[in-house]
Amino acid sequence: MASNSGFEVVEYRGSPAELAAFVSKCWDGQFPQDVTCPQWDAEYFAWAVFGNPDNMLLAAYDGGELVGFIFGEALGFRCGDRVVQGVFSSFLSADPARKGQGVAKTIASELFRRVQQEGYAFDVGFEVPTPGSLGPKFWLGSQKGERADGIRPWIRPLDARRLTRVSAARYERAAARVAGLARLDRVPARATGNLRPFEPRDLDACLELILAKEAGSDFCFDWTPERLALQLDHEGIPTTLVYDDGKIRGLTNFHRIRFRGRERFTAGQVDHLVAQGGDRHVERQLLDATLQSMKKAGHALVVCPTSAGMSTASRLRAGFLPMPAPYRLLFAFVAPDLDVTQLRRPMLHLR
Ligand SMILES: CC(C)(COP(=O)(O)OP(=O)(O)OC[C@H]1O[C@@H](n2cnc3c(N)ncnc32)[C@H](O)[C@@H]1OP(=O)(O)O)[C@@H](O)C(=O)NCCC(=O)NCCS
Repeated sequence: MASNSGFEVVEYRGSPAELAAFVSKCWDGQFPQDVTCPQWDAEYFAWAVFGNPDNMLLAAYDGGELVGFIFGEALGFRCGDRVVQGVFSSFLSADPARKGQGVAKTIASELFRRVQQEGYAFDVGFEVPTPGSLGPKFWLGSQKGERADGIRPWIRPLDARRLTRVSAARYERAAARVAGLARLDRVPARATGNLRPFEPRDLDACLELILAKEAGSDFCFDWTPERLALQLDHEGIPTTLVYDDGKIRGLTNFHRIRFRGRERFTAGQVDHLVAQGGDRHVERQLLDATLQSMKKAGHALVVCPTSAGMSTASRLRAGFLPMPAPYRLLFAFVAPDLDVTQLRRPMLHLR
């Protein structure tokens, strides 16, 4: 346990709903009103933060009041030609009313203590490259972290008219207007044969597809069947569909993410869209089904990071465009025998 004047850092002891509200409040308060920023809900946190009971949920409390938080998940990573144990962290938050009082630094020092105690090779997370983000300064500054290549989200409208109204930045609203005029938000009505919801018996086939896809990456999760099962299926929160023509030839795995712009809206984020051997027909069927499902759920936007595995040709054909800035990886507490700055082809979920 780490403590500082006025607060202590211990395991988080509240509900997913309280935590999602706290983290969302901190990010909402940090990012300017003309920047679209992510927000989260109880269902998403129940899966991504609380789904694995071994996760580190480090919280700073002032008396009984939650004033800071970081999430950490200990995982195996394939790093170059090695497999190492590391921590993936995200959702670093300090109460806007306590900013600059060392809340984040004290949480990070407890995270560092645990990384050292357990012999993990690093802590890693994504840089948020939008104006107002203090994360890069925090990790690269006082935490002496290192930056490495990252991933790039590609986006595609599902409801351009709505995005024209709700997006925070002027350039986003202008882009949405153009996308609407060009009808880039249309969703193909093609029939999607051979697609069905994931079932537990599909796990090994999905694992094989993902391992084959990520074989070309020099930094990715060292998937276990248990960890992949959580990624693909947890109380209906992520959606996973498989392409099954007697053999499982592809999968798509996605979930809801909330945003705060001028108004609140939701998007669908694709974590995996993988077709066996890059088969274009299978990939297209998976993508069409993904878009149809997200449209039906009322999402205004699709986010598909490069790490999802979908080919560039399919993304372009379906009207996706790359976001201007990549989400680079920020490493902290790196073991002396690892050079993470050389990593070039990471494939990690955007969290
Ligand atoms: C980033 C954040 C967690 C920092 O929390 P905090 O408790 O205020 O930070 P600390 O008081 O421990 O200060 C740590 C460092 O944060 C940065 N920082 C904090 N407040 C700052 C401010 N007002 N302006 C510039 N930098 C600031 C500095 O780098 C500071 O280090 P320094 O004192 O050596 O310069 C907090 O602002 C936050 O919740 N932001 C919203 C979410 C977010 O951006 N998370 C990170 C995503 S990777």
